[in-house]
Formats: sequence, C-alpha cells, structure tokens
Amino acid sequence: MIPASLVDALRSARHVVVFTGAGVSAESGIPTFRDSLTGLWERFDAASLATPEAFQADPPLVWGWYEWRRMKVLQAQPNPAHVAIAELARHVPRLTLVTQNVDDLHERAGSTDVIHLHGSLHQPRCFSCGERPDTPLGMPDEPEGGRRLEPPSCNACGAKLRPGVVWFGESLPTEALNTAFAAAENCDLLISVGTSGMVYPAAEVPGLAWRAGAVVVHVNPQPNTDQSEREFALAGLAGEQLPQLVDLAFGDR
Ligand code: NAD
Ligand code: APR
Repeated sequence: MIPASLVDALRSARHVVVFTGAGVSAESGIPTFRDSLTGLWERFDAASLATPEAFQADPPLVWGWYEWRRMKVLQAQPNPAHVAIAELARHVPRLTLVTQNVDDLHERAGSTDVIHLHGSLHQPRCFSCGERPDTPLGMPDEPEGGRRLEPPSCNACGAKLRPGVVWFGESLPTEALNTAFAAAENCDLLISVGTSGMVYPAAEVPGLAWRAGAVVVHVNPQPNTDQSEREFALAGLAGEQLPQLVDLAFGDR
C-alpha cells in the first residue's frame, strides 16, 4: 500500500532524483549481482571477471563474459519500471536519473541525460589509450556466459578493447559522481530502486539526500531499510510499484 503522504510529497516535489541498481532491470531478464541463486556473483567469480587484473590475465575470458551480458541486454526490453521513470520525468519540474547499471534500458524507455556511475556495456574503449571504437559493436555471436571471445583491437594504437564498465577497485567517473552527489543534496525527494546499497561510493547517494532533508523511498522486494521519518520502503517489484506510484500521483493529469 503506497502511503498518501508519499504521493503528496511526490506531487509537490520540485526536483526528484531516481537512483537505480540492477533490480530495476531484473524484470527485463537482466541478472542482478546479489540476488540469491540468480545473482551474477552467485554464479560467477567477480574477482576473475570484473577486475583490470582479470582482463589482463585472460582478455578473451573477460571480454566473452561481458559480450554475453551485452547480448542479454540487446535481447531485453525495458520493463514497466523503466517506462514509469521516463513518464515521471514528464510530470515533475526536474528529474535527475542516476544509475549503477551498465545497460541502456533507461534510455530505450525514453529517459534522457542518464548518469551512469559504473559505465556502459555499449561504450567499450581501448585498454591502453582509452580511444573508443568509431563504430558500435555488432550483436555478439551468441557467447555463452564465460565463453572466450578475442577482444577487438583499438583503431588508434592496436591494443585490445575493454568493456566500458567500472570494475572492482576502479574509480568511478568523477564528473558523473559529483553530478549525482550534487543532485542528491539538492533534491526534495529521492526514489532508490532495485539496489542492495552495498557498493560505495554509489551507495552514498540515498543517504546524502536524506541528510539534506529530502524524502527518500526505497523500492525493493527485500527492502534493506526501516520506515522512518521522511523514509519509506515500498516492498515490491519495481515493475509494479513504480507505475502505481506515478499513476497515484499524476494519473489524473
Ligand atoms: P563490478 O561488480 O565490478 O562493480 C564495480 C564497482 O564495484 C566499482 O565501482 C567498485 O567501486 C565496486 N567495488 C569495489 N570493490 C568491490 C567489492 N569488493 N564488492 C563489490 N563492489 C566492489 O561491476 P561489473 O561487474 O564490472 O559490472 C559493471 C556494472 O554492471 C556494475 O556497475 C553493475 O551496476 C552493473 N550491472 C548492471 C546490470 C544492468 O545493466 N542491468 C545488472 C547487473 C549489474
Ligand atoms: N524490483 C526491485 N528490486 C529488485 C527486483 C525488482 N524486480 N529484483 C531484485 N531487486 C533488488 C534485490 O532485492 C537487490 O536488493 O535489487 C537489488 C539488486 O542488488 P545487487 O544485485 O547488489 O545490484 P546493485 O545494487 O545494482 O549492485 C550495486 O555492486 O557489483 C557491484 O557495480 C556493481 O553496480 C553494482 C553494485
């Protein structure tokens, strides 16, 4: 049940931040990281796949795994959660969308100016010189999770391309992180969707908003927060809770 006080707060908000994690794409069939049984880290060893050292040790293994994930994204469709977030941006005076995800499902649902804190599967770059390929990569040839694929070579220097995502231990893009922190500190309401809140510095974002006086909402089937003053937990699927919330707040407009 979505509290009326939350609906009123969303209706009167001047600046809304939406902060998403892997859970917002779960209903599109994209695996999350830490869900028991289905989470990526339950089935694959992150340290051997999602670090610069892993890539240098075995580029085809790491590239093949990310191409498998990119293929899943290419085959997926935005779900009602992505659509509701894009719809919400059309109703509030200002909406800042910050995601930890590397898929493009927010963009494909119509969201714009998406802040990607952990990069994108669609922006590979040269491991050595950082150059991006001048043509987008095609559809991978069906690599299974973990199957080896030789990374393409950089047009500028000939070194290997790497996935354009942030790996364990790597720093986040500074401008994206600063923009996300500034938005959190200056919003009236923040909706956190589908994140376990376990990975920093991204996980700082909801707390920054709350400490700055914003209303904070967590949308998650397993909410990892108690309801408190100005903090709500909508225990449910993003694809169900978000369309309901947007409809209650703006369905008559
Ligand atoms: P990753 O798991 O390597 O995470 C990179 C981030 O993890 C870095 O920012 C780093 O600060 C942090 N980190 C450092 N040490 C860590 C530790 N011990 N445990 C957990 N995190 C640690 O990310 P990846 O596998 O390279 O994947 C990149 C992105 O894939 C992630 O940002 C994640 O949000 C994302 N993802 C996206 C989807 C989707 O697109 N729908 C689904 C699942 C995951
Ligand atoms: N709707 C809403 N939330 C969901 C749904 C759903 N349909 N399905 C799962 N969830 C929730 C889970 O309960 C979990 O709390 O989504 C969350 C997913 O958490 P993680 O798998 O940890 O993903 P995320 O929070 O994005 O991970 C953060 O960790 O490995 C790093 O860099 C990686 O960006 C990632 C970061």
